[in-house]
Amino acid sequence: STVKNATLLFMGRAAVRAHALLGDPAARLFGMSPARDPYPEYEAVRRRGVLVKSRMGLYLTSSHELCSSLLRDPGFGTLPAGALSPVDSSAQVDGRRLVNPVEESFLVRNPPDHTRLRRLVAPWFTPRGLRAQQATVERVVEEYLDEVAPRGTFDLVGDFAARVPVQVIADLLGVPGADHAAFARWGSALVNALDGVRDLGELRALHAGLREFQAFLDDLIAHRRRRPGGDDIVSALVAHQDLSREDLIATTELLLVAGFETTVNLIGNSVLAVLGDPAVRARLLDDPGHAEAVVEETLRHDPPVQYTVRVPFESTRVAGTSIPKGTPIMLVLAGANRDPAVFADPHRFDPGRPDVREHLAFSSGIHYCLGAGLARMEGAAALRGLFRRFPDLRAAGRVRRRPSRLIRGAARLPVTTGVTK
Ligand code: HEM
Repeated sequence: STVKNATLLFMGRAAVRAHALLGDPAARLFGMSPARDPYPEYEAVRRRGVLVKSRMGLYLTSSHELCSSLLRDPGFGTLPAGALSPVDSSAQVDGRRLVNPVEESFLVRNPPDHTRLRRLVAPWFTPRGLRAQQATVERVVEEYLDEVAPRGTFDLVGDFAARVPVQVIADLLGVPGADHAAFARWGSALVNALDGVRDLGELRALHAGLREFQAFLDDLIAHRRRRPGGDDIVSALVAHQDLSREDLIATTELLLVAGFETTVNLIGNSVLAVLGDPAVRARLLDDPGHAEAVVEETLRHDPPVQYTVRVPFESTRVAGTSIPKGTPIMLVLAGANRDPAVFADPHRFDPGRPDVREHLAFSSGIHYCLGAGLARMEGAAALRGLFRRFPDLRAAGRVRRRPSRLIRGAARLPVTTGVTK
């Protein structure tokens, strides 16, 4: 067993190292300091050219035109499995394989698998599906506002923004209320892993969390098989006899991972924008309907997902450069969102600007965010509810940023309602 442990340790180190190399390429390009403003760096990339090669040999672009054309190009796909996540997919849980939550989902698969799997869950995200969610979203927002209201001072992220999306997804998936806390914990662990795993301890903790989460999902699936017919997503997936356990789990995990921290940071970043701009606040207080424009402009100006990656299936030319088959190109969505070729006065936060819908915060092409409508709905409901209840909401301490270049936002945002208890 000592030999086995040593081997595991070695494999673990290799995994951590591999992940450090591939996990968050932006961290290595631009530095990891979360306090640093990344936007001047994206500008610098754009000034160097449409397609730029970094000193480390990574291709990247902040050009809106190039980002949107590569996202829509059928000759380009997502990164091959194994490149993004430190999860060891050969690990077993009770004799069953550990499913890699990011690598095996349709987020990073190419057609025809992508098409087949996305289609299974798409009905919940149509305008009709969304209307069915509206009441849940409003209720969850009000519940958490009731909870923080008596406190006067609270952490906008931990005590409010982080709690809304996970409830909404749990509800969609049919996760019982009693399991919501654990569900939220697993969701955070999976998303934090995208920021990079710093050491073996973190890798072990990630595997342990994932193991628990999958045992939970296996149980939930078994339960739904015994009692079919529910109107939640897991019930619907279970009804597809030809869907493998791995695809079912990966799809469920994707909805949690993709819909969780992204939305938390949309809420956080839009609140930061309002707190920092008295004119925006005044307009929002005057017209709660303005929340939608503030959320949309936040998606453009300070998007939760800062970049994605695409690779060509065959060797090709991009912006005059030969790119060998399989070479990753980093598409800096947050940089494209401030491309002056598309957005007038791009660094200005200007809710209601006519060009806002051109932003790439939700990507484009076949991987265009399935949850975009839900995210918008949650963001607007949170912002409306928050400032209706606490019109004098103020920052009450230092904002701590997430230690990530992929997901941008506050990890902690102390606020005060301005109402004495
Ligand atoms: C895909 C952003 C909220 C579900 C994506 C992608 C981006 C994105 C950029 C595409 C990545 C790529 O092209 O490589 C966001 C942002 C959100 C958000 C900024 C919140 C502000 C949500 C929510 C859900 C969700 C609430 C669902 C509950 C998905 C799914 C995909 C996806 C399933 C994969 C789509 C595919 O590959 O076909 N999201 N997302 N997202 N998102 Fe979102």
